[in-house]
Amino acid sequence: MPLDIIVGTQWGDEGKGRVVDLLATNMDYVARYSGGDNAGHTVTIGKQTFKLHLIPSGMAYPHTVGIIGNGVVINPDILIKEMDSLRRAGIRITPERLYISYAAHLITPAHLALDKAQEQARGSGKIGTTLRGIGPAYTEKIARRGLRVELMLSPQSFTQKVLAHVESINHTIVTLYDGEPLDGQKIAHDFMNYADELRPYIRDTAGLLHEKLKQGKYILAEGAQGTLLDVDHGTYPFVTSSNPTAPGALIGLGLGVGNANKVIGVTKAFQSRVGEGPFPTELQGEEAARLRGSGENPWDEFGTTTGRPRRVGWLDMVLLRYAVRINGITELAVTKLDILSGLPKVKICTAYIKDTLTYSDLPYGPANLDSFIPVYEELPGWNKDIRLVKEWGDLPAQAQDYIRRVEQLAGTPVHLVSVGPEREQVILL
Ligand code: GDP
Ligand code: IMO
Ligand code: MG
Repeated sequence: MPLDIIVGTQWGDEGKGRVVDLLATNMDYVARYSGGDNAGHTVTIGKQTFKLHLIPSGMAYPHTVGIIGNGVVINPDILIKEMDSLRRAGIRITPERLYISYAAHLITPAHLALDKAQEQARGSGKIGTTLRGIGPAYTEKIARRGLRVELMLSPQSFTQKVLAHVESINHTIVTLYDGEPLDGQKIAHDFMNYADELRPYIRDTAGLLHEKLKQGKYILAEGAQGTLLDVDHGTYPFVTSSNPTAPGALIGLGLGVGNANKVIGVTKAFQSRVGEGPFPTELQGEEAARLRGSGENPWDEFGTTTGRPRRVGWLDMVLLRYAVRINGITELAVTKLDILSGLPKVKICTAYIKDTLTYSDLPYGPANLDSFIPVYEELPGWNKDIRLVKEWGDLPAQAQDYIRRVEQLAGTPVHLVSVGPEREQVILL
């Protein structure tokens, strides 16, 4: 069962790209299974930093093959630009080492326009989407009128399909949102060019992965977003429109349940969120500014895709236990422990209080979190700069205690602690 799945346990940006890059060293295939270019995954190797939106994060190695699975929604313009920028950085992006599922769905400018119009119409109830057309593209998929990648294989009918799609969304934009219609001919023309470029990459990726698993090859499934943004299991309606949780990897790659081996939950040592929605342990003011960083460092808490400042707060173990349960997480990877260095005290939320009752688990899942008040445990901080620490034994005792307490409260072992963005800045347990 050589399929390992990497999932975010929080609201995204946990450092999944960094962990995928690290673990891909032992993998043959690295596969994105959900989301689209709303994702921004950072990989830092020496002086090079890659910000990946659609291409799997494990492709900086020469030996890996990247897969964009059927569960992904693809903006071909963004994908082609990302392919070019990786090529310029010296990474081989060819049809021999990047496969795109014929059953993935396309994002068009009409989806982007609709995302924007819908967000504007929501007013103060806005979700704070990335405006990448993600919600509209998945809506069309579920409504069974989406544009699948396989349409690019039939140039004659593709133009007609794109024109009909733009016309249909134009109708919505004009009649419901009082917006301007898009130029269908221009979009169809651009999409024909994208099709010419991407056609050699289109494959039956599910069939291929199945064959490779039979041959004993190793596959790493790379989650985008995070558990609490899952459309079924997250803080609905402040979620994305897909299933980034671990079972989504099976649907989004077309693999059977029996294939999964490890499920690795990536957890920031604190908590962050970009966009609207509940966040029980959220901090404000100076405490928040300390965890977020000023924006001077590349790892400070500003969105990889949108540049928005991320909301930040203390690690929430009620939500982490929930993520462990929903995903079937077998081990945790804790990132950004270095950011907590220098704090006199570190807090962990162990439970919630509501109406004088204490909850160590969520009574109705994470949907209506606003009225829950976090209960904190305070742990002593540490002063030592841990960014160069490579061995568990060299971590200050207080940092070890923090990780051990996370393991205890999550009921799951921590196998990896990241102390910096670079590939080598890691402690394996
Ligand atoms: P992803 O979406 O889960 O892949 O995460 P992002 O790439 O959006 O955000 C994580 C940010 O933290 C990136 O800038 C990473 O380079 C950085 N990062 C990851 N792990 C660590 C770490 O252990 N320490 C520090 N300081 N930065 C990290
Ligand atoms: P990675 O893979 C953080 C958030 C948006 C918004 C909500 C819905 O880098 O962890 P969408 O555009 O998907 O309809 O927006 O989800 N969101 C993310 N937040 N990291 C991400 O991806 C995200 N992808 C979407 O900010 O709140
Ligand atoms: Mg990100």
